[in-house]
Amino acid sequence: MRAKIIGTGSCLPDKIVTNDSLSAIVDTSDEWIQSRTGIQERHLVSSETETTLSMAVTAGQAALENAGISPTQLDLILVATVSSDFLTPSTACMVQKALGASNAAAFDINAACSGFLFALNTVDAYFQAGIYQTALIIGVETLSKLIDWSDRSTCVLFGDGAGAVVAKSSEEGMIACLQGSDGSGGDILICKSRTNNNPYIHTGTDLDYLYMDGQEVFKFAVKKEPECIHALLQQAGMQPPDVDYYLLHQANYRIISSIARKLKLPLEKFPSNVSHRGNTSAASIPILLDEVNRNGLLAEGNILLLSGFGAGLTWGAALLKW
Ligand code: COA
Repeated sequence: MRAKIIGTGSCLPDKIVTNDSLSAIVDTSDEWIQSRTGIQERHLVSSETETTLSMAVTAGQAALENAGISPTQLDLILVATVSSDFLTPSTACMVQKALGASNAAAFDINAACSGFLFALNTVDAYFQAGIYQTALIIGVETLSKLIDWSDRSTCVLFGDGAGAVVAKSSEEGMIACLQGSDGSGGDILICKSRTNNNPYIHTGTDLDYLYMDGQEVFKFAVKKEPECIHALLQQAGMQPPDVDYYLLHQANYRIISSIARKLKLPLEKFPSNVSHRGNTSAASIPILLDEVNRNGLLAEGNILLLSGFGAGLTWGAALLKW
């Protein structure tokens, strides 16, 4: 049995921040941001009530409603995030409580922007092993709290939000999936946790923010993601044109179009929302999936390829029948 996605949901914070608004905070411009990334605006949390948990719960509820599944039918909840509100309990456990999903085991996965794909692949493995049958998978980030808002090279790129899917154990659905990691490249996209401060060691109290070597990340993405897509298609005995839609991690429209070019495919096969969402990390693929699903773009039997890359370094992909 494999994982079949039977419902989707998403949640975005109310506040929309345009490139022009950011140019009042850092030395940047709408022209620079749009020409380098394709991003025009992003949603950012702007009230105490908008949290990683609140967005995860709203997206999860929407996915459950879309799937016609009640919370107590869930036996697994996975949340992919690097920006939990709490170090413990996990966001997944807090979602379980908020939804009343009392029969579900729940835990978080940290694979940065590839997190949703790692979670989907994990659920598929559980289903293949016959351990669980009905799962809620959420990708959620409040990356805005990890950003140095005086660093123009990172603060213009990211947005907050959550996306979710309900997956059911089924004869059809997932065709093939893969995931990979290269910890030796971890330094090019990094955010340290809190420093040590026990009675025997004091290493400072400064909070760390996200650091990125943008050009190295760009090179990694445009090389690794097409390799990953080719490897997955080969595993399934399929060719690039056999896929109806490629739902890629929404980090940068230049990366998405470079991948389309390398696969020799038209951009119409690559739905994108990066212009209005920015990079929402683990939430980007499930938010995009929810938007194309609700916009009626997908038909039963469509072949979808989901693929992404991120800090770690990590990469992942999933090929599935809708
Ligand atoms: N506004 C205006 N100028 C900016 C800027 C901003 N927001 N950010 C950086 N610059 C400046 C730099 O300071 C540099 O100026 P200098 O030449 O005077 O030193 C110049 O623009 C070029 O910077 P560079 O980093 O070479 O730009 P780039 O063309 O590589 O684009 C990124 C930067 C971040 C858009 C690009 O590298 C990228 O998209 N990388 C991948 C990032 C990514 O996908 N991350 C998420 C991974 S999940």
